[in-house]
Amino acid sequence: MTIDPADVKRFWDERAARHADDPGLTNLEENPELRDLKIALEEARVADYLGTLREESIVLDLGGGYGVWAFKIAPAVAHVDVVDFCAPLVERGTAKAAELAVNNVTFTHAAAQDFTSTRSYDLVFISGLLLYLNNDELDLLLDRIASYTHAGSVVLLRDGTGVPDHYEITKRWSEALQANYAAIYRTRDEYLAAFARSGYACVRDDDMFEAGCVLNKFPETRLRIYRFVRLPS
Ligand SMILES: C[S@@+](CC[C@H](N)C(=O)[O-])C[C@H]1O[C@@H](n2cnc3c(N)ncnc32)[C@H](O)[C@@H]1O
Repeated sequence: MTIDPADVKRFWDERAARHADDPGLTNLEENPELRDLKIALEEARVADYLGTLREESIVLDLGGGYGVWAFKIAPAVAHVDVVDFCAPLVERGTAKAAELAVNNVTFTHAAAQDFTSTRSYDLVFISGLLLYLNNDELDLLLDRIASYTHAGSVVLLRDGTGVPDHYEITKRWSEALQANYAAIYRTRDEYLAAFARSGYACVRDDDMFEAGCVLNKFPETRLRIYRFVRLPS
């Protein structure tokens, strides 16, 4: 199956237009109690996976929406570039940075797989993006990432993963999201192989939530987190 990028863009443009400015907009949990639990558990897990950040680090947040994670990371680093192809989210993020007087988070409106940079990023944060990319787009993105990172750079990936098998949702109506939805849930092995081809080794990975957690809603998928480190070439 392939996903039509226009459908993904329409989904996010429409969601941004009708959803309130709360983290559920981008983390897709509509139940307020579950959303709060999800945020708390994820923050702890992501902080553990980020480890100690260096104040001179330059960070890239791909598919970063309006900066839910970027604003959390920014106080500990020199700069965070956020890239997203949904213009309303980029506008919200830019407005939020101005409102909060945060001057080390900048937003760029672009498809992640088309984004290039002359910076050399120490950390690339990818949360909830790769499931919307077809294989050719994923390969292009991984080539791009290799072009603006260096040996020792970290990629932190937080993404839906097929368990135990690759799983795809072809464009279909979601009652929970009140929209048509499509996504590709690659397996852990598929992610590890794709990143290995680009010179990245997985040094650690986990399910985001413990077995039995109410947030493990679907038997075919798990939200997972991976820490990749770029090897010397
Ligand atoms: C599930 S949300 C995650 C947002 C944010 N990373 C977070 O964790 O809160 C997916 C985001 O990816 C963006 N997106 C999807 N496909 C994209 C692409 N090809 N290039 C850039 N952004 C994309 C959407 O606009 C949306 O903001």
